Amino acid sequence: MTEMKVLLECSELCRNPLEDGDGQIFPPEHFKEKYAVDEVHFTPDIADVLAKMKPSVLLTLRGLNTDSGSTCREASFEGISRFEVNNSLLHPVIVECRLQKTDMELEVLRYTNRISSEAHKEVMRRVKPGLKEYEMESLFQHYCYSRGGMRHTSYTCICGSGNNSSILHYGHAGAPNDKTIQDGDMCLFDMGGEYYCYSSDITCSFPANGKFTADQRAIYEAVLKSSRAVMAAIKPGVKWTDMHRLADRVHLEELLKIGILHGDVEEMLKVHLGSVFMPHGLGHLLGIDVHDVGGYPEGVERVDEPGLKSLRMGRVVQERMVLTVEPGIYFINHLLDKALASPAQCGFINTAVLTRFRGFGGVRIEDDIAVTADGVELLTCVPRTVEEIEAFMAEETSKPFSPISSQKL
Ligand code: GLY
Ligand code: MN
Ligand code: MN
Repeated sequence: MTEMKVLLECSELCRNPLEDGDGQIFPPEHFKEKYAVDEVHFTPDIADVLAKMKPSVLLTLRGLNTDSGSTCREASFEGISRFEVNNSLLHPVIVECRLQKTDMELEVLRYTNRISSEAHKEVMRRVKPGLKEYEMESLFQHYCYSRGGMRHTSYTCICGSGNNSSILHYGHAGAPNDKTIQDGDMCLFDMGGEYYCYSSDITCSFPANGKFTADQRAIYEAVLKSSRAVMAAIKPGVKWTDMHRLADRVHLEELLKIGILHGDVEEMLKVHLGSVFMPHGLGHLLGIDVHDVGGYPEGVERVDEPGLKSLRMGRVVQERMVLTVEPGIYFINHLLDKALASPAQCGFINTAVLTRFRGFGGVRIEDDIAVTADGVELLTCVPRTVEEIEAFMAEETSKPFSPISSQKL
């Protein structure tokens, strides 16, 4: 492999900053140091700088993100037509580079998780019936920015309470976390801060009033059991699709114990009953994108089965991958009605018990993990068992929002 130079092009410096009112600008050395790159040049000079290097070809980055379906826009600059350009070679190489995190990337991802975990805890301390869901979103963002320097979140915050906790992408513009949280609601808050473009993606589920009902405890503990079973099984070499199947199996076993289902779990698996309760994938790669690139390289096909077809990664697990583990059980009326109308599925469902759970919402437990040589490093650190959550939420919360203190990476 020949030596690769990393150049940073300071496009924001190509204007006259004083005329534009941007104030004094830093010299290239400042950016060289800040971004740890070999060279820094101003955008208007880039064609001349590159011409002196006499490259046989310039590689630009264009390719399909197999998760979002979007094609990334390649870099360009005035004078690029003077060069031979190839825009297809680089993309698959960069995707592979992003798959396994370096030590420095892991350090940043540990930081995004630490601050976001603390922000979730701040929300859990302060949530109470009568508040709006968006107040919790706002508190999370305030904590991340004021305590961790995280100006952005990795995605739009999902703060579902009551039945909204069964809406997988709640919080979007059409449903902007604007319900009043009620006594007796389950909350499902999926929020992650971003630092220097690196994401976190964490979901905490808990009762708004701090005390689980028997049904809330049963569903929560079913999901926790699948989360912990999956984490115990993950190591380099396992198939991610098998981890999804494992979560489904544990959910079905637990729903059987609760009495919502009856029959043989092997038979339920054959008719994909797990996807009625967990219609999304078990988890995904995490990094610069919250749903990071590389889930389906050439030759790896999606499994075309309910639930599994939504899995965002089809690869075998490798050391240094960073992934989310996010099993969930949801009571989504249209999926339940469809299952009850399905001759293959309805025979497993105890309709009388299920009726009790209509309107329950859902539970998701989402942690971020880094794969090690023989298992996982758990990056997320929030109360997870029922006992931990109840004890944590019962703690004194009359203190004002803690004062700003600088957080060091
Ligand atoms: N927050 C989006 C996801 O969990 O994938
Ligand atoms: Mn999430
Ligand atoms: Mn996620």
